[in-house]
Amino acid sequence: MKPKLFIPGPTHVDQEVLDAMAQYPVGHRTDDYRELQSKVVSGIKECLYTNQSVLVSTSSATGLMEAGVRNLSNRRVANFVCGAFSKKQAAITKICGLDQDVFEVEWGQAITADYVDSVLSKGDYDLVTLVFNETSTGVMNPLQEIGEVVKRYPDVLLMVDAVSGMMGAPIKVDEWGIDMALASVQKAWALPPGFALTSLSDRALERSRLIPESQKGFYFDFVRMHKAGEKSETMVTPSIPHLYGLSKQLDRIKVEGLENRFARHREMAERVRQWGKGRFGIFAQAGYESDTLTCFANESGIDLIALASEMRSRNYLISGGYGDLKGKTFRLAHMGDLHMDDMDDVLGILDEVVESL
Ligand SMILES: Cc1ncc(COP(=O)(O)O)c(C=O)c1O
Repeated sequence: MKPKLFIPGPTHVDQEVLDAMAQYPVGHRTDDYRELQSKVVSGIKECLYTNQSVLVSTSSATGLMEAGVRNLSNRRVANFVCGAFSKKQAAITKICGLDQDVFEVEWGQAITADYVDSVLSKGDYDLVTLVFNETSTGVMNPLQEIGEVVKRYPDVLLMVDAVSGMMGAPIKVDEWGIDMALASVQKAWALPPGFALTSLSDRALERSRLIPESQKGFYFDFVRMHKAGEKSETMVTPSIPHLYGLSKQLDRIKVEGLENRFARHREMAERVRQWGKGRFGIFAQAGYESDTLTCFANESGIDLIALASEMRSRNYLISGGYGDLKGKTFRLAHMGDLHMDDMDDVLGILDEVVESL
């Protein structure tokens, strides 16, 4: 038996979604396919509260993290860093040869709207990169407030890595002024890994039109991707099983209701934090704790390797610290298709294991 996934990606996938993904494929230039993609894209738009574009990508999210900076900046990027994944975004920006400045806060702290404002008021930037939910620290940045600030700088686009936050907390793309909110599907979308998607604002698409192809490359050129999307197709052969899976998952999300889904995540997060506070401490700055995963500070100094291994032997997979936090923290996901009874279950087992260490 495979261990149940309580790691922050890939996350637990329900059998109904797995079954949907196992359907016989359709040709990707047929009406059957176009109907499928069209349904999936309009469903995603509803989930992201946007009337602008959504692009689907047969890649992991990192492909879109690279695509974002290549398509959206021809001046200077402001990379905001608060943990390992936002740091990776800054590294990608550098590797792509773009001009950039990196603004890093202590890991565990949030990026605040005031901080973003102070940076934008001084520099000549055309793109901000921000992580919504920093998976390495369990911090959820105040996206709506940051969006409001970035709106005041008309040349600046806001690109958001929403990988581990999307579908676990609301992201109101149009209202909050987000130009790109990207995610892969193995987190709160609760599908197996291998597929990614992003919202794309009209002005982001316009920006991409101004960027030379030599900077954008071919596979991730937003103009090409968007053009294919207008026909409800993709430029290249997509992962059709993922589209089947998303189609099923969107039906299920509709039944649960978006607001209920987000409330479920909040309730699970509160339960896990309550449990963890006295025992280990919470790594994230108070007031900015994530709704989709908790990073425990391990204040009591228990043996984290033994903890993970004992959990594994009981068929529960939990996650150690990531990046610079390896060996110092551990993490528990409460996202996607996990429910309160799963949390009660895993926390009970964790208690048992901690007692035995
Ligand atoms: C916040 C964040 N950004 C980016 C990534 C990279 O996503 P992918 O592995 O789908 O490329 C992850 C993966 O854990 C993540 O948590």
